[in-house]
Amino acid sequence: MENTFKGITDPFVLKNGVRIPCVGLGTFKLTNDAEGVQVIESAIVDCGYRHIDTAAAYKNEASVGKAVKASGVPREKLFVTTKVWNVDRGYSQARQAFDLSLERLGLDYVDLLLIHWPATQKHYMRWEQVNIDTWRALSEIYAAGKAKAIGVANFKPSHLEALMDEEIQPMVDQIEFHPGYYPKETAEFCRENGILVEAWSPLGRGKVLESPVLEKIAAAHKKSTAQVALRWILQHDALPLPKTTHLERMEENADIFGFTLTPAEMKAIDEMPETGYTGQDPDTVDF
Ligand code: A2P
Repeated sequence: MENTFKGITDPFVLKNGVRIPCVGLGTFKLTNDAEGVQVIESAIVDCGYRHIDTAAAYKNEASVGKAVKASGVPREKLFVTTKVWNVDRGYSQARQAFDLSLERLGLDYVDLLLIHWPATQKHYMRWEQVNIDTWRALSEIYAAGKAKAIGVANFKPSHLEALMDEEIQPMVDQIEFHPGYYPKETAEFCRENGILVEAWSPLGRGKVLESPVLEKIAAAHKKSTAQVALRWILQHDALPLPKTTHLERMEENADIFGFTLTPAEMKAIDEMPETGYTGQDPDTVDF
């Protein structure tokens, strides 16, 4: 299907009406503070990114906050996401962890707050209740206006279902999603429930960029394989969060609007053999 975005600041609209720029900059592994500030500030100032995705676990919230300030772009024009890490599950821990995130970011609010990974039966007898307790902390933070939207990450339909009777339902699910790993079942559940899917590692950590399927389609459109991968995600109505430390790649990853993949091309990418999958199944990960 075709969407009508013309640039990376055009928004998806979440079910609570919050607008979220349709491409964001991923920051996982950007742990050196000086480099982090420089890369993120450059993304904002030189490349026009307005959406930055961080997490307590990335250990770079302070760099994000500094870059946001240094950019000179008004706070309300930027979209900042952070996430509650796994050791902070549960109501009071999650609330405290969020306060610390805000402090590190040096911000009064975040635009989006996510539970980073679901509690599952691997680690908890009452995993559903643990997720509900964490979720209630996020719901209160949202009600207090400290997060403009809330959601989850790495939740499969079975995990999401346990939250669907809550007063406030997740607005976003951020999951691994790239050519060579198309999480169709979760994407469909999210579509049916008005949850925006965000795609982490949209380039399969760079491991899908030499796929012959992508190379053929990229040649047909005179685009790079990275651009085709990101375009495929957008055309699935999901929001890509590519990571790069290079300015020219940031620009390339933002230039994905002047072409449309055909239904046959979409299908060919949907059906690519598994490539670049991290192997991180939320039900079995060790963290
Ligand atoms: P680098 O930071 O050296 O540019 P993902 O977002 O799927 O996790 O992928 C991130 C990886 O892909 C990083 O190693 C990044 O490397 C690389 N990358 C990001 N954008 C591009 C691009 N346009 N072309 C080639 N490699 C890219």
